[in-house]
Amino acid sequence: MAMKSVWIILLCLFVIAEANQGFDVRHHLSTVTRYSASKEISQNLIEGHRQIKVLMFVITYPPSPGSFTFRSYYIFHPCHDTESGTTHLYSASKEVSQNLIKGSNVPSECTPIHLNLVARHGTRSPTKKRLRELENLSGRLKELVRDAEAEKVPGWLGKWKSPWHGKVKGGELIRQGEEELYQLGIRVRERFPTLFEEDYHPDVYTIRATQIPRASASAVAFGMGLFSEKGDLGPGRNRAFAVTSENRASDTKLRFFECCQNYKSYRKAKEPAVDKLKEPVLDKITASVAKRHDLNFTKQDVSSLWFLCKQEASLLNVTNQSCELFTPSEVTLLEWADDLEVFILKGYGNSLNYRMGVPLLEDVLHSMEEAIKAREENLPPGSYEKARLRFAHAETIVPFSCLLGLFLDGSEYEKIQKEKPLELPPQPPKTRDFRGSTMAPFGGNNMLVLYSCPAASSPKYFVQVLHNEHPIALPGCDGKDFCPLEDFKAKVVTPHLKHAFDNLCNANLDDPKQEHQSLWSWLLGSSQKTEL
Ligand SMILES: *[C@@H]1O[C@H](CO)[C@@H](O)[C@H](O)[C@H]1NC(C)=O
Ligand SMILES: *[C@@H]1O[C@H](CO)[C@@H](O)[C@H](O)[C@H]1NC(C)=O
Ligand SMILES: *[C@@H]1O[C@H](CO)[C@@H](O)[C@H](O)[C@H]1NC(C)=O
Ligand SMILES: *[C@@H]1O[C@H](CO)[C@@H](O)[C@H](O)[C@H]1NC(C)=O
Repeated sequence: MAMKSVWIILLCLFVIAEANQGFDVRHHLSTVTRYSASKEISQNLIEGHRQIKVLMFVITYPPSPGSFTFRSYYIFHPCHDTESGTTHLYSASKEVSQNLIKGSNVPSECTPIHLNLVARHGTRSPTKKRLRELENLSGRLKELVRDAEAEKVPGWLGKWKSPWHGKVKGGELIRQGEEELYQLGIRVRERFPTLFEEDYHPDVYTIRATQIPRASASAVAFGMGLFSEKGDLGPGRNRAFAVTSENRASDTKLRFFECCQNYKSYRKAKEPAVDKLKEPVLDKITASVAKRHDLNFTKQDVSSLWFLCKQEASLLNVTNQSCELFTPSEVTLLEWADDLEVFILKGYGNSLNYRMGVPLLEDVLHSMEEAIKAREENLPPGSYEKARLRFAHAETIVPFSCLLGLFLDGSEYEKIQKEKPLELPPQPPKTRDFRGSTMAPFGGNNMLVLYSCPAASSPKYFVQVLHNEHPIALPGCDGKDFCPLEDFKAKVVTPHLKHAFDNLCNANLDDPKQEHQSLWSWLLGSSQKTEL
C-alpha cells in the first residue's frame, strides 16, 4: 500500500517595514551624507532587520501519531524565542543580505597590534563652482515664480537666496566636519586603548593627509581628539603632532586619481555617457516636479535643486525646503543616479578606478608586515609604528573599499576576480549594496586592525576590517570579517598586485584590452573635475 503524504506548506511573509513617514532624506544623499546619518543607517539596518520576520509553518500530513510539525523561522530576529520555534539567522533575500554589518568575532585572547585608517575628510562647504551654481539658481527661481500662479508655489521659493550668498571661497572643512573627525579620534582611542597608550612620536603614530586643506584639517581634528589630554597645551591639554603630505602631483598613495593619466582620460571620456544614463531619471523628475508645483523647471533647475537639497539637509539640517519639492521615491531615484556615477567613475564600474589604488593597498600591507617584524624581533616600545592614519577623499576611499572587495556578494566578487564587468546597481525600488551614503559619507572610513593571537592557535595574525567602525564581511575571505593575514594577503591583496601602477596609469599600452584607454589618453589629454 502506498503511503500518501501530503505536505502543506504555508509560507507567510510579514515584512514590517517602515512606512514613508519614516523616510529621512538625510539618509539618501549619496556622498553628501553626513557620517552621523550614515552610522544611524547602519544601526537602523540592524534594528530594521529585527523587525523583518518570516514565519514558515510546515505541516506534515499524515503526522507522526498525534502531532504536527510546526516550525517557525525568524530571520534576523536573534532575540526571539518561542517554544515551538527554532531561531535561525540567515539571509533570505538581497534586501536582508544588505545587512553587511555583523557582530564582532574577535577572540578575546587576540590583541590588536597595529591599525591602518583610511578616512574621507569631514563635512565641507560647497566648492566655489557650486556656490556660483546656487547664485544662478536664486535668479532662476525668481524668474520662474514671477511667471507663475501663486497657489501651488511653496512660499520660500520666490524669496530664496543662497545661504552662502557673498561667500567667495568654498570647499573647506566646516565646524560639523571638524566635530566628526574629532569625535572619531576619541572613539578610536577608546576602542583600542593598548594601541594608543604610548607617548606620541611621529614614527609611532604616522598621520598623513593629502595636500588639500579639508583633508589635512580633518587629520588635525582627528589628532586633536586622538591625543586630547595627552599633552600640556591649553585647557584641553592638547599635543602638537605632525601631519605630513606628499606633493599632490606625485601622491600615488592618497591621490592616485590625480596621478593616473589613463584614469583621467577615462573619466573625461566617460562623463558624457554617465550624464546620458542619468538623463531619463532627471527628465522624469523634472516633468513631475514641474507639474506638481506648476513651475516651468528645466532639467538644470531640478539638478541644481537636488544639489541644494543635499547641501541643506547635510550642512544645515534643513529638510523642509528644497528637499520637500521631491517625493521620497524621487529622492531615492536621484540618489541612485548619483550612486551610478560613483559606481562608473570611482567604483566597480571600471577596474582601473580601483586598481590605480594599488600603491595604497601595498602601503597598508607593508605597514602590517613591519609591525609583525617589530613584534617578532621583540623591539622595544616606541621604536616601531602602531598606527598609520590617512585622510583623503571619496576618490580615495571608494576605490580602496573596492580593492578590499567590500559591498559585493559572492558571485559579484567572482566576476571581479575573473575581470568580468559588473552589472550597474539596479534601479529602485530594487535594492543595492553599492551606496555612496554608506561607502563614502563625509568622514567615512575603513580601518584595518591587525591582531596577534596566541601562538597555540594557528594562524597567528588576523586582519579585521571595520567599515565606518563596524566589522564588515570580506567576500575575498569567505565572507569572514576576521581574516587570517595569510588569506588576506593571498586572496584579497595579491590578485591586485600584478597590475603595476605605472603600467595601468601612464603607459600607452598596446594590450588590446587596454587600447581604448590609451586611445582616450591620446585624444583627450587630462581632465580636471571638481572632486568630492
Ligand atoms: C550661471 O549662469 C550663467 C548664465 O546663465 C551660465 O553661463 C553659467 O555657466 C552658470 N554658472 C553655473 C556655475 O552654473
Ligand atoms: C517652459 O520653458 C520652455 C523652455 O525653457 C519653453 O520653451 C516653454 O515655452 C515654457 N513654457 C511655459 C508655459 O512657460
Ligand atoms: C536636525 O533637525 C532635527 C529635526 O528635523 C532635529 O531633531 C535634530 O536634532 C537636528 N540635528 C542637528 C545636528 O541639529
Ligand atoms: C522649516 O522648519 C523650521 C523649524 O521647524 C521652521 O522654522 C521653518 O519655518 C520651516 N520652513 C519651511 C519653509 O517650512
